[in-house]
Amino acid sequence: MRPHALLFLAVSAPSLAIEMVVRSTGGNATTPHMYGFLHEDINNSGDGGIYAELIRNRAFQGSEKYPSNLDGWSPVHDAILSLKKLSTPISAALPYSVNVAPREGKTKGKIGLANAGFWGMDVKAQKYTGSFWVQGTYKGDFQVSLKSAITGEVFGAAKISGPSTSEWTEKRFELVPEKNAPNSNNTFVLEFDAEGLMEGSLNLNLISLFPPTYKDRKNGLRVDIAEALAGLKPTFLRFPGGNALEGNDLNSFYKWNETIGPLKDRPGMAGVWNYQMTNGLGIIEYLEWCEDMNLEPILGVWAGLALDGNFLPESEIGWAVQYALDELEFLVGDANTTKWGAVRASLGYPKPWNITYVEIGNEDWLAGRPAGFESYKRYRFPAFKKAFEEKYPHIQLISSPSVFDDMVIPKGVAGDWHPYLTPDEFVTGFNKLDGLTKDNLTLIGEASSVHPNGGIKWEGQLMPFPWWGGSVAEGIFLISAERNADRILGAAFAPILRNMNQWQWSITIIQHAADPALTTLSTSWYVWRLLASHIIKTTLPVSAPPGKPNLDPLYYVAGQSAAGTGIFKAGVYNSTESVPVSLKFEGITKKGATAKLTVLTGPADPYGYNDPFTRVNVVKETHSELSAGPGGVFDFSIPPLSVAVLETSERIKAPCRPRRK
Ligand SMILES: *[C@@H]1O[C@H](CO)[C@@H](O)[C@H](O)[C@H]1NC(C)=O
Ligand SMILES: *[C@@H]1O[C@H](CO)[C@@H](O)[C@H](O)[C@H]1NC(C)=O
Ligand SMILES: *[C@@H]1O[C@H](CO)[C@@H](O)[C@H](O)[C@H]1NC(C)=O
Ligand SMILES: *[C@@H]1O[C@H](CO)[C@@H](O)[C@H](O)[C@H]1NC(C)=O
Ligand SMILES: *[C@@H]1O[C@H](CO)[C@@H](O)[C@H](O)[C@H]1NC(C)=O
Ligand SMILES: *[C@@H]1O[C@H](CO)[C@@H](O)[C@H](O)[C@H]1NC(C)=O
Ligand SMILES: *[C@@H]1O[C@H](CO)[C@@H](O)[C@H](O)[C@H]1NC(C)=O
Ligand SMILES: *[C@@H]1O[C@H](CO)[C@@H](O)[C@H](O)[C@H]1NC(C)=O
Repeated sequence: MRPHALLFLAVSAPSLAIEMVVRSTGGNATTPHMYGFLHEDINNSGDGGIYAELIRNRAFQGSEKYPSNLDGWSPVHDAILSLKKLSTPISAALPYSVNVAPREGKTKGKIGLANAGFWGMDVKAQKYTGSFWVQGTYKGDFQVSLKSAITGEVFGAAKISGPSTSEWTEKRFELVPEKNAPNSNNTFVLEFDAEGLMEGSLNLNLISLFPPTYKDRKNGLRVDIAEALAGLKPTFLRFPGGNALEGNDLNSFYKWNETIGPLKDRPGMAGVWNYQMTNGLGIIEYLEWCEDMNLEPILGVWAGLALDGNFLPESEIGWAVQYALDELEFLVGDANTTKWGAVRASLGYPKPWNITYVEIGNEDWLAGRPAGFESYKRYRFPAFKKAFEEKYPHIQLISSPSVFDDMVIPKGVAGDWHPYLTPDEFVTGFNKLDGLTKDNLTLIGEASSVHPNGGIKWEGQLMPFPWWGGSVAEGIFLISAERNADRILGAAFAPILRNMNQWQWSITIIQHAADPALTTLSTSWYVWRLLASHIIKTTLPVSAPPGKPNLDPLYYVAGQSAAGTGIFKAGVYNSTESVPVSLKFEGITKKGATAKLTVLTGPADPYGYNDPFTRVNVVKETHSELSAGPGGVFDFSIPPLSVAVLETSERIKAPCRPRRK
């Protein structure tokens, strides 16, 4: 904290409040999708995260890096489980299945297998939808149940009539528990009768169980996590990940064509965050997610670079470009006249989606540098740009490096900047974006405070959770982005989700586990939500005391909403005292006009955070209704280390002429 700030503010009376006037003209129209997020599959945030599937390792998918196994499964009633690669698998994509046999000598009674879920399963009195595939001659019924892993209490069960044959067949069921389980330490059990086995055992695969999903989508999203994300008021989704798109090596990049169609035709892939991904959340599910949350899709296409630093030589870039064009055609192509559009239609999606933003690669300045980055500048990016501009001229292309990564961005293209910084770096960089010209359109595709001030960067020094001081700094950074929102395409916190049972990166905006009651909104969630809840359609100039462009310790932006109301957003950083403000919108002149002021403050300790284990929310949100004094002036003060938004109740009446640059 700065002693002179204390001195300055100690003498300030309301009459010394900072007088600011928001002009009615001279603003700039903002880009339409300011706040959004990247879906990065950080260590089970897709599987065992936002993707609602409850069964872990449902189809024994494997790869060279993560060979197929029986993780998550255990035998019940003396069954013997073995992983089998059969000559007739259920599909080419799923070569392995589980074989369930009674132990030697057991000819009667039930046998089966249990799944532990992703560190437990939430069991409530609601409808679960399940299915499994079975192969082997059997006379009898199957029974499925949801049980406590601790007491064995059965919360719900269902019978599925057999028989089964030597052909793989799918069995579907619904299961409605009679009551809520007291905790999430539950398992799913599938059983059958040993005496009904004609050939000694059964093979099973693709054993799946879904709770109700967000907006009731089949194969959809986990409700509480999706609602927590929707609560952030996002407007775009960048997918299918950052690093996840690149893959570990040139063989395991994100293969969009292996994420589509029936689940039995999806082989899964070796993820980049230490586990095999199911790809149940595939490219179409991402677009359904966009539809259900009204998000603009930003599609990332693989650009020929893998995380191990290897990249495609110039002679091979052509097929990667074609592969991306095919992906676009699959999503937007006409069902009757294009090859991939017809494939989409054959999967049950005749109507094309509309894709307006495509990002070429992810962080192509980083892996394998400098050669990887050189190849991006010299031939990889140019090849994609040429092909996309020819075929899809209306698409806004985004280069994965930004001007801040030393990329000269060609006219008409945007860059993607990923600031992972300390709070001080965000705040001292407040004017950094002001230098962008209209030819430097920039997406802030990933951003968050990750290191404390003065800490060692990138050497295992990530903070354990988003913390209040870091969140306020992010807020001030977002305010700086909004000042330049005619050239900033949007901003996203990243990454978004972490399963508290196993994770690799600690700064995520939402933390969760199997039990929805543990879903925890971080301090940053509150800051991003507040700023995203008041969207400025046109920025407006503010007259403030001369010589203080950002009025440190007060950082602000002002503008007009689509509805015409006036908006003022501000953050206070590095101050021990509140900052008094006298704010006037030129268009509002009468005494008694009203405005709503929302202020977020944090705990006394700026390192305080929202801990998913104690579940105490350290963020305090206060709402007040202000009434303007003579001349329409709103007087209020903004506390130390806080983020605040004021929105007028009435329209700013003076005409406002946006200038699109
Ligand atoms: C239930 O599971 C949680 C983790 O989800 C664990 O912390 C807890 O100890 C378990 N409870 C019991 C009684 O085993
Ligand atoms: C998907 O596309 C990649 C790249 O063309 C190809 O190697 C792979 O075999 C395809 N997968 C399937 C299942 O066709
Ligand atoms: C998640 O990350 C941790 C830490 O890197 C790792 O130990 C763990 O194996 C990962 N989880 C899975 C399911 O791979
Ligand atoms: C595609 O063909 C079907 C069947 O012939 C027809 O009903 C539909 O209108 C066609 N769609 C377009 C976009 O031409
Ligand atoms: C897709 O969206 C863009 C931008 O909003 C629009 O210009 C274009 O007409 C749309 N295309 C279709 C096929 O809807
Ligand atoms: C912004 O774009 C201009 C024109 O393309 C370019 O000269 C300039 O270097 C870019 N700015 C930055 C910060 O790279
Ligand atoms: C905040 O104050 C500290 C201590 O005086 C100083 O080192 C730091 O640069 C300040 N940060 C900003 C963003 O002004
Ligand atoms: C609008 O853009 C112009 C030209 O870049 C700039 O000078 C002005 O400061 C911007 N206005 C606001 C309110 O940001």
